[in-house]
Amino acid sequence: MITDGTTILVTGGAGFVGSHFARAAVDAGRSVVILDDLSGGTPASLPPAIPLVVGDIGDARLVRRICASHRVGAVAHFAGKIQVGESVLRPDLYFNVNLVRTLALLEVLRDRGVAACLFSSTAAVYGTPEQIPIPEHARREPVNPYGASKLSVELALDAWGRAYGLRWAALRYFNAAGAHPDGTLRESHEPETHLIPIVLDAGLGLRAPVSIYGSDYPTPDGTCIRDYIHVQDLATAHLLALTRLEAGETLGPINLGTGRGYSVREVIDTASAVLGVEIPHVVGPRREGDPPVLVADPSRAIATLQWQPTRSDLRTILEDALRSRRTVRARSVATRGR
Ligand code: UFG
Repeated sequence: MITDGTTILVTGGAGFVGSHFARAAVDAGRSVVILDDLSGGTPASLPPAIPLVVGDIGDARLVRRICASHRVGAVAHFAGKIQVGESVLRPDLYFNVNLVRTLALLEVLRDRGVAACLFSSTAAVYGTPEQIPIPEHARREPVNPYGASKLSVELALDAWGRAYGLRWAALRYFNAAGAHPDGTLRESHEPETHLIPIVLDAGLGLRAPVSIYGSDYPTPDGTCIRDYIHVQDLATAHLLALTRLEAGETLGPINLGTGRGYSVREVIDTASAVLGVEIPHVVGPRREGDPPVLVADPSRAIATLQWQPTRSDLRTILEDALRSRRTVRARSVATRGR
């Protein structure tokens, strides 16, 4: 890891993956500054030692000021809208926040000579895949504006790289899950749409039974299969990729998944075992736009980054996610009681 005295600007660093990356970077001895508008993140969960600027990535004056005052040498760009369903209803919002404001950010970076950019991308760029596992060169045909906006940024990064020498990596996450093992950071979205937090909260009696979105898919148990990747393994991959960008390489797109998928029923069954209670669930209709199976071919990450997921077996993901939900809940009950 290069520690040349420069700082990593982490956009969206109060969010789920961004906060885990910021924490991992600081733990690795890096200097970090977070820029987040707090529209989705929870600053209370961030270590107080990490400077947080509340603001918009599209605010060029603000970003310029941060770059100058913190000696920013690289950006890890997590800020963005992430809900597939919302993106279908509000494509304007998704293309504006995810693409237009990212272009504004890239312009400031170019102006300031910041030439290394890690980008938080997604398996949604593939749409409904033709092959499983999915390699990076698979057809990219997003089926919703969220995936299209992320793919548009990847195309822009490629063009910026060719024209202006930007070194970049687009890390395409499959299903980010889990939480920091010490329980201090966790996944929290409003509204929550992701399977694992929903399953755990249903098991803890904090919400209604889980609705399984369809049990008639062409999979062994009829429910959708996803490749769940622990957020700590994502953070490690980002650090490895950043080191390579800082050493002068461009990496382009890289899948981050395990290569092993689990069905919705397997998630519910494993969560029942971890919690020691039956998770209440019902079978509901399919959710529009869900491909039956999404599993990464992670060979490029393994070979290029010398990366290996270490916490991404489903049980560890669920145990860490559960610990964080209990810790954060206990903390908020204690705070309310004061
Ligand atoms: N599911 C349920 N019930 C729920 C919630 C989810 O059955 O209450 C199912 C979904 O149908 C899906 C699986 O659980 O089969 C996982 O769903 P998530 O919503 O947790 O995650 P997605 O696979 O839909 O989304 C992930 C990322 C997105 C990314 C997408 C790519 O979170 O950012 O993969 O398709 F865009």
